[in-house]
This record gives sequence, structure tokens and C-alpha cells, in this order.
Amino acid sequence: MLNFHKDHRNLVNVALLVFVLLSMGIAIMPASALSDGTQPLPDMPKMTPEQRRGLEVYVAENCAACHTQQVRNIAMDKPWGARPSIPSDYAYSKQRLDVWRASPSVLGSERTGPDLTNVGQRQPGAQWHLLHLYDPRMVVKGSIMPRYGWLFEETAHPAADAVVVPVPKERLSDTAHVVVATPKALDLVAYLTSLRQAPLPDGTAPAFLPSPRGPEKAEQGTGGDAAADGEALFKGTCSACHQSEGQGLAGAFPPLAGSPIVNAEDPTQMLSIVLGGYDARAEYGVMPPQAAQFTDAQIAAVATYVRSHFGNKAPAVEPGAVAPLRAQIAPETLIVP
Ligand code: HEC
Ligand code: HEC
Repeated sequence: MLNFHKDHRNLVNVALLVFVLLSMGIAIMPASALSDGTQPLPDMPKMTPEQRRGLEVYVAENCAACHTQQVRNIAMDKPWGARPSIPSDYAYSKQRLDVWRASPSVLGSERTGPDLTNVGQRQPGAQWHLLHLYDPRMVVKGSIMPRYGWLFEETAHPAADAVVVPVPKERLSDTAHVVVATPKALDLVAYLTSLRQAPLPDGTAPAFLPSPRGPEKAEQGTGGDAAADGEALFKGTCSACHQSEGQGLAGAFPPLAGSPIVNAEDPTQMLSIVLGGYDARAEYGVMPPQAAQFTDAQIAAVATYVRSHFGNKAPAVEPGAVAPLRAQIAPETLIVP
């Protein structure tokens, strides 16, 4: 018979046994069952070493203090992804940072800034991210995101392979200087531009629950079949670089207001630029191709919007004009870089 009053070993052994069984049953077994079931999605590209280092910069700078990476299954989260997040989206996190630090959790719980689950899809331009990290207010007027100036260096003698960030001269302490991105900044941007939801193999996405407060406002520019609203598409995508009034940003993004390409009677060149991207002039950055993000109707709608606003007066664009140009684009540009 167990005698707890006279034999203290019984007391300790039974307590130990209960502790071990409970730990197995409610912590270790469920955790390992969960992580065994969490396989990366078949179309999820493997993280490159550069992106992995970028994730470490993201963790070190604590970007998760203001940014989530989780699309919840509620209607208000629709702008952040095509489907709610699932455990497989976090398959990368099975890898620890190092012996001492567990896998990085970047789900976040604070959404002072936008959710970043799909930011590589919304904002594929590496140069935009560099400018934004250097000083968010240069590309987003009134942004409250802090600047990450220490990820950049001001130098008079950039290395031959340095990535120069097009910061306006008046911002620099010496006009002979340029701003170069440090390897940390480049890794972080490689990570940010890689963030996009992988498609599910069988289309059985968990659904968004309807909002209890009635239908939400239409989502902007993320889904393929969103209504082709030129203004919303411009604000959701193009204005990040070309600015809210199409005025551009000296040294980085050309103005669309008054642009001869935008105002040309024949929209062919403009549509080719929007579909296939553009890198014609040294004084401006690179325009990323938009073909993969938008349908013909959406491209026509945003082109029509740009051609009839900011003082521009060019005829509207029909969706029919987009299809033949899309067919001419090299297939590799259809995959978002
Ligand atoms: C104090 C809160 C705060 C912190 C910390 C912060 N951000 Fe932000 N972030 C914001 C806000 C607010 C915005 C929206 C305005 C803007 O675009 O600048 C934003 C926007 C962004 C965007 C653009 C998102 C989009 O949908 O266009 C990216 C990318 C981003 N942040 C990355 C980062 C990274 C990387 C870090 C860490 C190095 C970081 N942020 C740290 C508040 C923050
Ligand atoms: C990541 C930043 C970025 C985004 C987003 C972007 N552009 Fe651009 N765009 C550029 C840059 C940079 C150039 C100039 C490239 C060059 O000349 O080398 C440019 C050039 C253009 C031009 C040619 C204008 C001229 O006069 O040379 C048009 C038209 C244009 N963009 C339209 C759009 C539209 C419409 C959208 C939204 C669907 C858009 N852009 C989104 C960066 C961007």
C-alpha cells in the first residue's frame, strides 16, 4: 500500500509521475503533432540565405512591435491576403535562430502599421522599400513609422557594387555624398519582397467569416477579381511610388502629372510600361512589372484614371487594348520578381 505519511519517496515519485504524464499529454504530444503536420505548401519557394538573414534583421529591429504577419479569418483582414493564414505559412519557423533562441515568431499582435503577410505582392519594388526604410516620410506622407537610418551609410566613395539609394541631395550632409544600403538593409528588403501567400494546392482555403457589423468596404487591388476601380488601384499600388497627386519624387520616381508618356494619344507605351515594368533612365529607379497583379480591366481602369487626373487629359483606355500587349510580355516578367 502507498503510504504518504510515512514514506516521503512515495509522495515525490507519484508527484513526479503525474507531472511527467501531464507534460507529455498536454504539452509535448500536441506540440509535436502540430509541428509534424505543418509541411510547407508545395508552391512555397524555399527561403534563400539572404531572406533568412533578413528575417533575423526583422526580429532584431523588432518590426513585429508594429506589424503583424497573420491574416485572420475575419472580413476586416481581407485587404491583407487572399485567404486566412494557415499553419503551413509558418513552416519556415521550425528552424531555430540559433542554439539559444527559439524559432522567430513574427505573427505579432500589434497592428500599428499594415499587416505584412502579402507585402511582397503589394509592394514588389526593392527600391521603394529601401527609401521607405531610410525615411518612411519620403515615400508615404505623414507616416509614423520610425526611420531605420542605421541600416544605411553615407559615403563619398561607394564601392563599385554598392546599392545607392536615391536620396535627394538636400538631405545629405555633403552634396558629394551618396547613401548606400548596408548588407543588413539589403537582406531585410530581400525578406520583405519575398513575403507573399503561397497558393493552396486544392483550393480548400478556410473562408473569411462575414463581419458581424455588416459588409466591409471593397478590398483594394489585392485580389484578381476586385472591381476595376482605377482610383482605388492607383491609391493602393501606384501612389506609393508616384505619390498621391502623381507628382513623383525627385531622383526616384517620375511624375505622372504632365508626363508625355501618360498624355500620349496612343496608350500603347504607357500600357507596356505598366504591364512589363520600366527602367529607362538612370535618374529614376526601376518600375516593377504589374502584369501579374492585375487583370486587363484593372490595368485599363488605372491607366484611365491616371490619364484623366492630376491635370492629365488623355482619352480613356479600353480593356481590349491591354490583352495584345500582355501577350507580348516576356513570360519571366509575369512572375513577380
Ligand atoms: C512604430 C511602429 C512601426 C515600427 C516599429 C515599424 N513600422 Fe513599418 N509601418 C508603420 C506604419 C504606421 C506604416 C504605414 C505607413 C507607411 O507606409 O509608412 C508602416 C508601413 C510599413 C510598410 C509598408 C506596408 C504596405 O502595406 O505598404 C513596410 C514594408 C514596413 N512598414 C516595414 C517595416 C519594417 C521592416 C520594420 C522594422 C525594420 C518596421 N516596418 C517597423 C509602423 C511601424
Ligand atoms: C515601386 C515603385 C513604383 C510603382 C509601385 C509604380 N511605378 Fe510607375 N514608375 C516607377 C519608376 C521608378 C519609373 C521610371 C523608370 C525609369 O524611367 O527608369 C516609373 C515610370 C512609370 C511611367 C512612365 C512615366 C514617364 O513619364 O516616364 C508610367 C506611365 C508609370 N510608371 C505608371 C505607373 C502606374 C499606373 C502604376 C500603378 C499600377 C505604377 N506606375 C506603379 C516606379 C513605380
